[in-house]
Order: sequence, then structure tokens, then C-alpha cells
Amino acid sequence: MPILVTGATGTVGSSLVRQLVAAGQEVRAVTRDPASRAAAALPPEAEVVAGDFGRPESLVSALRGVERMHLVAIGESLTTGPRILEVAKEAGVRRIVHLGHNDPSRDDDDPMEARHRVLHRTIENSGLEWTHIFPGEFMANTREWVASIRTESVVRAPFGDWTSAMVHEADIAAVALAALLEDGHIGRTYVPTGPEPVRRRDAVRLIGEAIGREVRFVELTPDEAREHWKDRYPEQVIEWFLEMGRYLDGNAWVSPVVEEVTGRPGRTFARWAADHAADFR
Ligand SMILES: NC(=O)c1ccc[n+]([C@@H]2O[C@H](COP(=O)([O-])OP(=O)(O)OC[C@H]3O[C@@H](n4cnc5c(N)ncnc54)[C@H](OP(=O)(O)O)[C@@H]3O)[C@@H](O)[C@H]2O)c1
Repeated sequence: MPILVTGATGTVGSSLVRQLVAAGQEVRAVTRDPASRAAAALPPEAEVVAGDFGRPESLVSALRGVERMHLVAIGESLTTGPRILEVAKEAGVRRIVHLGHNDPSRDDDDPMEARHRVLHRTIENSGLEWTHIFPGEFMANTREWVASIRTESVVRAPFGDWTSAMVHEADIAAVALAALLEDGHIGRTYVPTGPEPVRRRDAVRLIGEAIGREVRFVELTPDEAREHWKDRYPEQVIEWFLEMGRYLDGNAWVSPVVEEVTGRPGRTFARWAADHAADFR
């Protein structure tokens, strides 16, 4: 029986597709654009199918014969999630592994946070077997630095001492794989992080070591960061980054989830940098 992976061209979903294929599972990979380069990069064993969260009915044929699925909470699925769940149940889905986000420091007045929480409750009340996966910060977020490292060997960012136990996407995917294939994860909420806290300036140094040349870290003041990010992110997101930066300065929580669920320690940031060195060269 195929396992349906939504978000299959994304950071976590593409790793999940590869891990399911490697485990010998039949995989159906959903994308809005099966002709895209990201879809073409998926393993040939995966069946790539079209589907759009904005039109839940577009998932009907992708869901045929599927009992287990991975749902990424992103974009339209945050609002059409309840209908996606109905369509999935009608098709015969019994288990859903949900990759999303929960930030207990933000309240329901935050519209994005509120949407995530509605989806959490809808999944929990759906009658399906469910597992929530709410990871810590992704190591892959440092891909924001690709352009300046490639062209200038420099990273400009605030809070060099910002400390975060960032998590490798392959470890998030490995937790999702276990929740899809094994029975001990139903009704659980997992918060996978990386195995160790890493300061921003050390992440920059580790990328430099992986690519074989020094990368300078230039620390920005909050006002310089606002200017630096203004064309890239909405103002509200920038203020949230800065608030998080102050909070995470010197703080980082390491979760035991990856090792507990997969039986292996989480991958380090040095490993992530080596895995992605070609992107930064
Ligand atoms: N980044 C972090 O630090 C962090 C931390 C905690 C939690 N999270 C959570 O992680 C999740 C994001 O995972 P990710 O980074 O792996 O995703 P991603 O790389 O941003 O990829 C997004 C995926 O969603 C698919 N998608 C987007 N809109 C769609 C639509 N309308 N219909 C169908 N598919 C659609 C895209 O597929 P196509 O473009 O091929 O259609 C793509 O595969 C979010 O729930 C986020 O809250 C992230």
C-alpha cells in the first residue's frame, strides 16, 4: 500500500521520500508541479502525483488506496486542513503524521499560530491515528546564507551568540518515518531538536570548515538586521526573529526525541554542513 507524502519536494518531505524508498516502501509524492526540478530530483521509485492543498479535492486520486500519510502544515493546508482530513478519511486513510509547528511562547492572538493550533485540534479530533511532529529550528534555515557565502565568504546576521539546537532535516524525516511505519507513536507529540546547542558564529565557522575556506561572521545590530532583512521578510516576521534572538541568546534546549525514536543520536551541525557543502561553495 503506498504511503502518501505531502510536502514531498520540501526540506523534510524530500528526505522522508528517500528514506521510505530506502526502507522498501511504496511512496506517492505530492507536489503542485510534477514537472518541477524538485519533483524530478525525487527517487525514480517514488510515484510523483499532482495535488494542491488549496483544492483539497485535487488530492482524491492521490489518496486512492492510501492508509498512511504525511501532512505538512504549510500555506493553504493551514486553512483547508479540516477538508483535507475529510477527503483523506473518505479515501480510507487511517494514520496521519503531521509536520507542523507549535510555539508555546506565542498566544492565539497571533494569526499564524492560531491557524496551526486549529489544525492541531482538528487532527486530534479526527478519529485518525495521529502523530504531531513539531521540530526545533531547522539547520536548513542557514541556507539563507548561501548567496553571501558563495559570493563574499561572509555572513551578516544579528546575535552571534544566538544558541539553538538546530535539527537536521534527515532526523525529522527519520522520526516521521518511524511514526508512519511503527505502532508506538500514535497520539504522541514529538519535538525533535539537534543533539547539541550551536552558536550562530560557530555554525558559520563549521560551514567554512566544510567548504574548505574561512567564512567571516559580521554581527549586525537589531537595526542593521531590520535593514538587511527588509526586502526578504515581512516586518512582523523580522520582529519575531529579533525577539527570538534575544530569547535564545545563550539558551538552547536539547530534546532526546531523535535518539529515543530512531535509536541513533541526532546528526550534528558539522554533519549537516558537510552534507550541504556543495550548496555553499
Ligand atoms: N524551518 C524551521 O525552522 C521550522 C521549525 C519548526 C517547524 N517547521 C515546520 O516545518 C514545515 C515546513 O517543512 P519544510 O521546511 O520541509 O517545507 P518546505 O521545504 O518549505 O516545503 C514546502 C512543501 O510544501 C509543499 N506545498 C506548499 N504549498 C502547497 C500547496 N498549496 N499544495 C500542496 N503542496 C504545497 C511544497 O510542494 P510544491 O512546491 O512541490 O507543490 C513543498 O514540498 C512547516 O509546517 C513549518 O511550520 C519549520
